[in-house]
Amino acid sequence: MSLLLPRPLGERAGVRGEGNEESIMATDSMTQPPPVRPQPPTPNPQSPLIELRNLKKYFPVRSGVFSRVSAWVKAVDEVSFIIQPRETFGLVGESGCGKTTVGRTLLRLIEPTGGEVFFQGRDFCQFSAAQVRQARQQMQMIFQDPYSSLNPRMTIGAIIGEALKVHGLARGEALDRQVGVLLERVGLAATYRSRYPHEFSGGQRQRIGIARALALEPQFIVCDEPVSALDVSIQAQILNLLQDLQNDLGLSYLFISHDLNVVEYIADRVAVMYLGKLVEVAPVDELFRNPQHPYTLALMSANPVPDPTVQTQRTVLTGDVPSPLNPPSGCAFHTRCPQAMERCKTTPPPLVRSGQGTAEHSVWCHLYGEGTDE
Ligand SMILES: Nc1ncnc2c1ncn2[C@@H]1O[C@H](COP(=O)(O)OP(=O)(O)OP(=O)(O)O)[C@@H](O)[C@H]1O
Ligand code: SF4
Ligand SMILES: [Mg+2]
Repeated sequence: MSLLLPRPLGERAGVRGEGNEESIMATDSMTQPPPVRPQPPTPNPQSPLIELRNLKKYFPVRSGVFSRVSAWVKAVDEVSFIIQPRETFGLVGESGCGKTTVGRTLLRLIEPTGGEVFFQGRDFCQFSAAQVRQARQQMQMIFQDPYSSLNPRMTIGAIIGEALKVHGLARGEALDRQVGVLLERVGLAATYRSRYPHEFSGGQRQRIGIARALALEPQFIVCDEPVSALDVSIQAQILNLLQDLQNDLGLSYLFISHDLNVVEYIADRVAVMYLGKLVEVAPVDELFRNPQHPYTLALMSANPVPDPTVQTQRTVLTGDVPSPLNPPSGCAFHTRCPQAMERCKTTPPPLVRSGQGTAEHSVWCHLYGEGTDE
C-alpha cells in the first residue's frame, strides 16, 4: 500500500483540474448533492502528535491441513508512549523485539490486535479506510534498506513524483519542478531525476528515499533503521540531514534502531523494548546517564564506546532471546536477567515513574518498588 497520498498545497492545489476525481463529482452534482469527502476528525492542537495506548499486535501462527491458528506471536504487547511535535522518539532493542511492528501498526499499515493510536488527539483506529488514507498523507515511513526500497525500473523522478502524479497533485513541468526541489532539499542535484537507482550509492539512495517521504509534506515520519545499512561516515550525513529537515519543516520522528550510539545522537527521548514490551523510557540524556533497567544496562555495556580509554563495567547477558511465541511468565527478561528474583518469574513487573511530562523516566522492573500500574 502506498503511503503517499494527496495534499492540496499552494501550487499543487491549483493543478487539480479537468478529468480528475473532483471534476467528475461536479458533473454528477447537477442532480444530487455532491458526496461528502470523508474528512478525519478535527485535530486537537493541545494533544501529543502521536499517542499509543496499550498497543498490541499478535501474528497468528497457522498449522495443520486446515491452517488453523495454533499460536500467536506477541510481536507488540501493551506498548504505550507519546511523541510530541518536533520530537525525535528513539525505539531501541535487539532484533525481533517488535520495533518495526510498532512502526507499521502505528501507521495502520497492519491492523492492531488491540489498544489505541491517537494522531493529534484523534482516535486513528476508529478512522474509516478513506479517512486513514486522507490522514496518512501526514505520516510517512523511511525504510532500512536503500537498495530494495527503490524500484530499479523507475527513474528517480518517477519514484519521488509517483504520489504527486497518481493523486493529481502535479504533472508535467510542475511535477518536474517539484521533484527537483525535493532532490535539492535532500542534497542531490535536480538533474538526477532522469537517472535510475543503480547509478547511486547507498547514502544517495537513502536521500532519495527521504525525498520520496517528504513529497506530501508530512508531519510525522517513522524512520525504520534508516542508517543501519550505511557506512559509518555516511550515517552521520544522513542523520544530520534528518535533523536539518526536522528543524526546517517541524517534523517529528519515530526513530527505530538497534544502535545505541545512533539513538543517543539523534533522539530526544528513548524507549527500550524487549520481547514486544517496553522496559524503560526516558529523555536521552537521563537514560544514558542513569540507566535503570537491567536490560538497558546490558545493552549499554554491549555497546561499543568510541573512546578506547573509557573503562566500562560490562554486563554480559546469558541465554538466548526467548521466542515471542511463548514469552516467559512474569518479567519476560527474567530468564536472562543477572538480578532476577523469585517474584520476577511469576509476577509482571510494575511501572515505576519518576519525573513528569517529557522529562518522565519510566521503568518496568521489580527492583524499583511497587510503582503504579497503568
Ligand atoms: N507478518 C508477520 N507474521 C508473523 N510474524 C511476524 C510478522 N512480522 C513480524 N513478525 C514477528 O514479530 C516479531 C517482531 O518482529 P519485528 O520485525 O517487528 O522486529 P524488529 O525489532 O523490527 O527486528 P529487526 O531489528 O530484526 O528489524 C518477530 O518475532 C517476527 O518474527
Ligand atoms: S523485573 Fe526482575 S527479572 Fe525483570 S528486569 Fe527487573 S530484576 Fe530483572
Ligand atoms: Mg525491524
